[in-house]
Amino acid sequence: MWWLVRFAYWTGLLLSLSLSACAGDEVDTDLGPKFDDKADLSECAGYDGGHLSGDDLLVLINKGEGQQLAKRWAPRDLVSVDDHLMIPGREATLRLGVLQAYEKLASKAELEMGLDLRIRSAYRSFATQCRTFAYWVDTKGLEHAQRFSAEPGRSQHQLGTTIDITSEALGYENSSGDIEATEYTWLAENAHRFGFALAYPKGEDDTTGYGFEPWHYRFIGHEAALEMHDAGLILETYLLACQNAPTDLQCPQEELAEVIPNDRFIGGMCEAQEDCRTVSSDAVCLDEEDGYPGGQCALPCEASCPDRAGANAVTFCVVHPTDEFVGLCHSRCDDERFPGSGCRDGYSCVEASRPSGSTGMVCLPR
Ligand code: DAL
Ligand code: ZN
Repeated sequence: MWWLVRFAYWTGLLLSLSLSACAGDEVDTDLGPKFDDKADLSECAGYDGGHLSGDDLLVLINKGEGQQLAKRWAPRDLVSVDDHLMIPGREATLRLGVLQAYEKLASKAELEMGLDLRIRSAYRSFATQCRTFAYWVDTKGLEHAQRFSAEPGRSQHQLGTTIDITSEALGYENSSGDIEATEYTWLAENAHRFGFALAYPKGEDDTTGYGFEPWHYRFIGHEAALEMHDAGLILETYLLACQNAPTDLQCPQEELAEVIPNDRFIGGMCEAQEDCRTVSSDAVCLDEEDGYPGGQCALPCEASCPDRAGANAVTFCVVHPTDEFVGLCHSRCDDERFPGSGCRDGYSCVEASRPSGSTGMVCLPR
């Protein structure tokens, strides 16, 4: 279908073909919800998730009631972290604005102290956290796991704003034995200048519910981090105070950077993430691995999809069969994985021939 759409676009033989978009088994994209977990949600049995959205940079996520993220909540603006910021062999994503703030922090750490800070872990989806928590239970037992690892939906890593930091000198590990390390001393003294807060400080186990994690920093916004620092609060008490307003605190919300649309968009087809920007800053590029050779822009959605001018296929929100992510706006007319797909009134989903002789289904005027 993608091929036919592309052909039609360039030749002008067909009018405004639908911009196909549906979910494959895996969506590997630089932007939008990161659907890269090849989720085996059987590991999430028993974890239903909560009701919170992570859109609020100051949302309190922890072990208490009403402090759990929704299973399907994922940031819409995840971007890949450059290799030079990562530990060797690892990949990670973060919300764009958070990555920008972290890049400044890492540069300053290098400039001021010659440190080569590296990210060990950043965004982790609900499904990833199921595996992470289970790993620690298996490896170190339940008690240790509960002290250093969050249950699914209760990890700040699902926010896409949280980073575990290490360095080569620290063996690229996160170890509570490294509390005196220069890296962690510098971070403790400076992270707030860049909008980050240490989530689990030393000696605060009873308040935070976790042991000391000198490596785990969460971005809460520049002004908020300064306010928290100046008020002498730890993250837990700051977020709690902000949640239980009225408070003397301002609890400022920072607007994170938006991804800039790119004019390379050519009618729903894409080769790279940037090609989809003019569809929406939320759009993602599905590629060959997703079942769309040549690429198709898709819109993540939670309940409804925009009525895209020019598209003649019905556009609706489809949640991926694995139930792993929020869903994609879908406008194919023939996708058997998603019964109900079809065309707008006045159009029929018909088979059309490609010049090569192969065929595809498209919405054409009756
Ligand atoms: N290590 C922290 C608690 C997490 O798993 O989110
Ligand atoms: Zn962490």
